[in-house]
Amino acid sequence: MIGREHIERIQNRIRGAEVVAVCDVFEEGVKKGAEISGGNVKVYTDFNTAINDPDVNAVVVTTPGAFHKDPVIAAIQAGKPVFSEKPLVNTAAGCKAVVDAEMASGKHLVQVGFMRRYDRGYKRVKELIDSGEFGAPMALRPITPLRWLSPIRRPTRLTCCRGWLVTNGTKCSASCPRPLLRRMRV
Ligand SMILES: NC(=O)c1ccc[n+]([C@@H]2O[C@H](COP(=O)([O-])OP(=O)(O)OC[C@H]3O[C@@H](n4cnc5c(N)ncnc54)[C@H](O)[C@@H]3O)[C@@H](O)[C@H]2O)c1
Repeated sequence: MIGREHIERIQNRIRGAEVVAVCDVFEEGVKKGAEISGGNVKVYTDFNTAINDPDVNAVVVTTPGAFHKDPVIAAIQAGKPVFSEKPLVNTAAGCKAVVDAEMASGKHLVQVGFMRRYDRGYKRVKELIDSGEFGAPMALRPITPLRWLSPIRRPTRLTCCRGWLVTNGTKCSASCPRPLLRRMRV
């Protein structure tokens, strides 16, 4: 699922980037990926062949977590920068194998998709919690505003906390009863 979003984003929203190849073990997944790219992409069912395609300059790995290690290491060995969805790998030994491979390559090639670390909203929540203004947090319920979802995942409407509706893809209503949510607006 998230691989499709990456394809859409790279192809349509990241300046200077182009999807040149799509890979999935299942033909159906490859077909869908190629369709979303809307371009003249190469299609593969074997990640080694895809990664080593000379037209591929960088790799995005969106297989399930248990299957990140091999394509990430293949990209490192091909000398190509690789963005892996989180988790890096789902075992400590697997993560170590990736770290060892990257160290052996002598280059920093791997980035893990913990993108919320760079998210203004999440940073703001951290500031508010650290400020102590709300006391010790007991629970946190994150809500993704529609505008943050790519068009292929965007539902027609999303229910906010306490059933308040966010329908226009912008943010919680100014009258949202949750002060923390109001303050989160960035
Ligand atoms: N779905 C999300 O919103 C989301 C958000 C953040 C992170 N992630 C991470 O993204 C990764 C993928 O999640 P998902 O929900 O998109 O999974 P998914 O199961 O929907 O999609 C994974 C795809 O990888 C393909 N695949 C599996 N093994 C493969 C292989 N060896 N070679 C090529 N293709 C292979 C599958 O056929 C499938 O199409 C996970 O690590 C997950 O933690 C997902």
